[in-house]
Amino acid sequence: MKTKCGAFILSLLIALNCICKAQDSSPKPYADEHRPQAHFSPAQHWMNDPNGMVYYNHTYHLFFQYYPKDIVWGPMHWGHAESKDLIHWKQLPIALYPDSLGYIFSGSAVVDSNNTTGFGKNGKIPLVAIFTHHDPKGEKEGTDKFQNQSLAYSLDGGSTWTKYSGNPVLKNPGVRDFRDPKVMWYAPEKKWVMTLATQDHISFYSAPDLKNWKKESEFGIKAGAHGGVWECPDLFPLKMNGKTYWILIVNLNPGGPNGGSATQYFVGNFDGNKFSPLDSNTRWLDYGPDQYAGITWSNTGSRKIFLGWMSNWQYANQVPTKAWRNAVTIPRELSLKQSKGQILLVSKPVAELKNIEEKTISLKQPVFNRSLLDLSSKINKLKSRYVLKLSFATLKDYSIRLSNTKGEELLIGYDPAKDEYYIDRTKAGKMDFQKNFSGRFTAPRQSAAKNSDLILVVDKSSVELFADGGLTTMTAIYFPTEDFNNLAVKTTGKLAINNISISGLKSIWK
Ligand code: FRU
Repeated sequence: MKTKCGAFILSLLIALNCICKAQDSSPKPYADEHRPQAHFSPAQHWMNDPNGMVYYNHTYHLFFQYYPKDIVWGPMHWGHAESKDLIHWKQLPIALYPDSLGYIFSGSAVVDSNNTTGFGKNGKIPLVAIFTHHDPKGEKEGTDKFQNQSLAYSLDGGSTWTKYSGNPVLKNPGVRDFRDPKVMWYAPEKKWVMTLATQDHISFYSAPDLKNWKKESEFGIKAGAHGGVWECPDLFPLKMNGKTYWILIVNLNPGGPNGGSATQYFVGNFDGNKFSPLDSNTRWLDYGPDQYAGITWSNTGSRKIFLGWMSNWQYANQVPTKAWRNAVTIPRELSLKQSKGQILLVSKPVAELKNIEEKTISLKQPVFNRSLLDLSSKINKLKSRYVLKLSFATLKDYSIRLSNTKGEELLIGYDPAKDEYYIDRTKAGKMDFQKNFSGRFTAPRQSAAKNSDLILVVDKSSVELFADGGLTTMTAIYFPTEDFNNLAVKTTGKLAINNISISGLKSIWK
């Protein structure tokens, strides 16, 4: 008996040891190849648009389009993550599952402080999610009414959600693309305003209670860019020099300035009924190929914080990651600035990024007239994630090269002949998973100033460029076969660099 028991325990121990070894051999979560270390990505499986971003009870909620069974797009759920500082994220259980009305497409969330919905019980303030129910059966049958707007609410600060029994609350009048409601409280008229993407324009609706929606107006058939479908809009006020302007964000796919998906915006006025733009120019919030479906957090007061999906529908389903697919950008603080005769949005990484910045290496380099400034020794311990800041007294041509020992490189720079910034990933590693991935992407400079500055937020597989105080922004992803541990700045002219600073970024997953 004794020996039998001993043998059993021994074999149990051997089996346990094997299981542990097998687990050890798979990469730790968030340590796998190409995994962003300073940006949120789901531990596993597919994500696209950020959804329902709301700040409540000192917590930033980030919901997102999520398919928990595969690393390609599928029946959409709302995944959920939360953060106290916009930088460190914790992934939580799925918030919304598909149901008999369809998949859970994109939308927003608000704090219903006045309990206009009546969802609040015993003084608990409801968080309300307003999302698109996408009925795949209706779509297959060829009807035009398969996208409708619905509600869900949470009485525990966003942890658990109940769908409203009266869904859908806004029925489709017969518009194929009728989705992505972004809702805000319009205080002057004590009503909710919904900004909805309706194919090639925006439709505004209002409701006193988030349930009984009335159409207010339409905007955009003749304004802005129309290379594809209008999706994921946002509407909010921003002040400049004491004056309030209204910003209307409209995501567009395809038809972006560098191909595929991108975010345009309009600056104008909104009177509770109608949006009137200052002009019908096309403005791009981010010129790079990999910022899409970006919108802002609700309930953050006058601070406007923007976050986008860091991919492009041209290849989002094919990028070479294994356990997970796609991530989000660094949250960005938005403000307005007058430049080159226009009022433009300025984007800057949120100040909270400091929370993961390591010791800053600062180099004073008043006049840099050598052809190559090699900074590799400054970044070789930073595991290819850092914030690089440069400021120039006079802007001349420059090119920043991130490279590895495999001969792969990413080039980021400014071309004075065309007065444009660029990101060139034609030799940046894995490329052949989709024909549109390789490319050199450009952005017209939005500033006319003689001096200039540049911030690059570099993570394992992405770079975000903020030039001229954030007037020009570009985001691009890339997949090198070895980390880019070399960094150099090149110029052909006399480039006066006032200051160079490099701060490593700690992993948000440790
Ligand atoms: C934008 C989008 C939305 C839609 C969602 C579906 O990327 O197409 O319009 O709600 O993705 O996942």
